[in-house]
Amino acid sequence: MVKIITYGTFDLLHEGHYRLLQRAKSLGDYLIVGVTTEAYDKTRGKLNVVDSLVTRIENVKKTGFADEIIIEETQGQKVNDIQKYKIDIFAIGSDWTGEFDYLKDYCRVVYLERTKNISSTMLREKNSPIQRIGIIGTGRIAERFIPEAKLVSGINTQGVYNPHTESAVRFADKWEISAYTDLEEFYEAVDLVYIASPHETHYGYIKSALEHGKHVLCEKPMVLKRKEAEELFAYAREKGLVLFEGIKTAYCPGFHKLLGFASSGTVGAIKNVEACFTKLEGKETRELTDRVYGGSFMELGSYVMLPIFKLLGREFEELRFDTIKGENGLDIFTRVSLRYPAGIATATCGLGVKSEGRLLISGTKGYIVVEAPWWKTTYFEVHYENTREVEKYSERFLGDGLRYEISDFLSTINGIGSSEFKLTRGESVTLAGVMEAFMRAEERDR
Ligand code: CTP
Repeated sequence: MVKIITYGTFDLLHEGHYRLLQRAKSLGDYLIVGVTTEAYDKTRGKLNVVDSLVTRIENVKKTGFADEIIIEETQGQKVNDIQKYKIDIFAIGSDWTGEFDYLKDYCRVVYLERTKNISSTMLREKNSPIQRIGIIGTGRIAERFIPEAKLVSGINTQGVYNPHTESAVRFADKWEISAYTDLEEFYEAVDLVYIASPHETHYGYIKSALEHGKHVLCEKPMVLKRKEAEELFAYAREKGLVLFEGIKTAYCPGFHKLLGFASSGTVGAIKNVEACFTKLEGKETRELTDRVYGGSFMELGSYVMLPIFKLLGREFEELRFDTIKGENGLDIFTRVSLRYPAGIATATCGLGVKSEGRLLISGTKGYIVVEAPWWKTTYFEVHYENTREVEKYSERFLGDGLRYEISDFLSTINGIGSSEFKLTRGESVTLAGVMEAFMRAEERDR
């Protein structure tokens, strides 16, 4: 009996897939099809897969060519599968020519000609037309957004808005997009808006974008007052629009894996969370000179509060800020202490003091430690009383990591599963409340 194996995502199963499976099967007697998991697709940068794993398996089954279906979860699995299932032929589409030659040590490798003019990507684009996104703001984070957005299918960066012509034009020329200095014209030209302007302008821009019927992805901190956050979310809901706060950690796969472990009771009941993020900045930067909206907590507070709210919830009883200030009175280092009915937490951040950027989650049975930079979660360890008993987990974090939030934003808009649970409205509202409390404590709330 000649055994063949092939692999794929098989999203929105189409004629190309059908023909591939048909030809693969005809190479022998028994065809095994490996269908990728969502997590594996995410780690290899394949975002926006529409069908669930179950649907994709069902669809492969329906073709009638697969004698057996297995799940492909990790890179490097193919070599093992081929040996385990005693495979004679590995078959795959010609778009992969050469890529799998290393398998020739184990079996025959056949590249089958790809069917022209059809792909899952094409179908995804047809089902959900390309969304044109416009960026408000031309700073560093806006620069990072464009290459990341290019990696998400179904979205195209249309242009950038900045009221200052020179900044808008310089940015647009660099990235070969359109420049807008008139907000009305900008809204006319886009479907979605990404806000990366100074913190204090977020509220106004979010409101006007929603008024113009645009879905909004806004950089953190989204707004600096609890009431404003509540009002904007209520308004977005009323208009049937998606409003996302862009804290990249909240959407990255490693952080989700970590939350899954932590919430499943692996380390018992969680009693203490400590999160630290420091990033040294030059004295002359906006972050360290803007007397009202600068400083460590405004800049990094959203990151360090996130795991605390995710793991201990939002119902804290006490919130205290301790800050170390620079010469101009801005906090160069801030520690937030929170007390919960059944736990405690500290969030530390600094722009002028360096510390170890780790996340520590302590429970009644053990603890989880996430190495720096935990906000781009790639590696964590689970420790127990017995020091020899250590579990190690890793996950990929690709590029600048904005692709994950962009992809989640887009699939929520397109109605392909909601990703709002990754950073709930309630969590964003609480974050805004903490920002507000901080400004009050620092007497910046004029
Ligand atoms: N395939 C094919 N002809 C096509 C599309 C896909 O022969 N027109 C093959 C691929 O080469 C692969 C298998 O089908 O062997 C599964 O590919 P998959 O990545 O799931 O499909 P694509 O349509 O290429 O998906 P995407 O657009 O998301 O990359």
